[in-house]
Amino acid sequence: MQFRHVQGMEDVLPTDSGRWRRLEAEFHRTMQLTGYGELRTPVLEHTELFKRSIGEVTDIVEKEMYSFQHSREHLTLRPEGTAGAVRAYVQHKVASAEPVSRWYYLGPMFRAERPQRGRLRQFHQLGAESFGDAGPLVDAELIDTLYGMLSRLGVTELDVRINSLGSAETRARYRAALVDHFTPHAAELSATSHERLQKNPLRILDSKAPQDRPLIDAAPSILELLSEEDRAHFEGLQAALTELGTPYTVDPGLVRGLDYYTRTLFEIRSSAGDLGAQNTLLGGGRYDGMVRSLGGPECPAIGFAAGVERLLLALPPSPSPVTPLVFFAPLGAAAQRACLTLARQVRALGHVALVDGRGGSLKSLLRRADGLRAPLCVVVGESELARGEVQLKQLELHQQSSLPLDTAAQQLAALLDVLAAGSAG
Ligand code: HAM
Repeated sequence: MQFRHVQGMEDVLPTDSGRWRRLEAEFHRTMQLTGYGELRTPVLEHTELFKRSIGEVTDIVEKEMYSFQHSREHLTLRPEGTAGAVRAYVQHKVASAEPVSRWYYLGPMFRAERPQRGRLRQFHQLGAESFGDAGPLVDAELIDTLYGMLSRLGVTELDVRINSLGSAETRARYRAALVDHFTPHAAELSATSHERLQKNPLRILDSKAPQDRPLIDAAPSILELLSEEDRAHFEGLQAALTELGTPYTVDPGLVRGLDYYTRTLFEIRSSAGDLGAQNTLLGGGRYDGMVRSLGGPECPAIGFAAGVERLLLALPPSPSPVTPLVFFAPLGAAAQRACLTLARQVRALGHVALVDGRGGSLKSLLRRADGLRAPLCVVVGESELARGEVQLKQLELHQQSSLPLDTAAQQLAALLDVLAAGSAG
């Protein structure tokens, strides 16, 4: 019997994890430079937390959560990171300790969706949440920061969409306007939209069904219903983005699939790379009511999350950098033990050292060093050991020399320093 991974939950093998690490490093650096600190929360939370924050009538809560009961607790594998971040913010009473908190996170999320390219059941998000600042400058700064990060990573054909849903009251008025608009035509709507008309009419605007298109195009725009404060906020966001030179499009049809949003909504899409239909790299928005509704104080907040797997599909292919390393080729048992010590010394000096303890002829050991593209290979046999030496072969340069055993590690490290500086430049 052979096991396979669960459908929609993939392995990342060492041949691929370098790309993940480079992406994560860029994200850590970007967020740290923008004053965000890293948050780590558990992957399991109480089911009720997601129902209360994401909303009962959303795809996630209705059909995509991995939930189970253990003993008397109802638990769910987190489908996203915002609910847990807000739960932690409220639980640790962070608002009373600092007026503004900026947090970022990365990790696995779980949604039982139909898997396809760019859509998984275990996927990974890079995300951030900023608490205590009502914006709109922080909104613009976040969008611009993400646009800059994606550009530095080499993602092209970026399309920034923004919208405003207004305050909770505006949203309620908009909901009523949509019900008025769609109800006389209910029979013409697709089955999904028909169902949404009762439960969550905003989500009709997200429908991909062709038969819904004419009715959606004729629907009232949220932007016509914004209050004066909502409008000032949205204009402030646009003015700041324009000043920063971040290109954007106002898209009144952008609603997003989570219920907690107020005012600013945004997404960044790309048609580059291998993305296919799932071309939304990241999405986010303001959720000024959630901290309060989860038992905290009145506290404005905004955040975003990006799908790591989607970002990797959008990235241009890049050859993985070759790490300079030293390969130890010992001939015989005493030499193998001596090489273990030498390798430890080289690693302590910050370089990669591999010892081949499988034995074999010098020829086969050298072939293995070649296979690993090791620039340095150290051969140690009984006669070298007796002389207190090791033999260094610089494979690419076809040069050979002897090094004293007691300073070999330092000399090897110095050579690797030079090689590393060369490959970095
Ligand atoms: P979301 O739009 O549900 O927002 O997800 C954000 C991103 O996660 C998506 O744009 C996509 O790149 C990725 N993603 C979502 N589902 C999948 C999937 N099944 N497979 C692969 N990638 C996926 C949120 O999660 C919000 N918590 C964002 C946020 C933070 N809003 C405010 N703060």
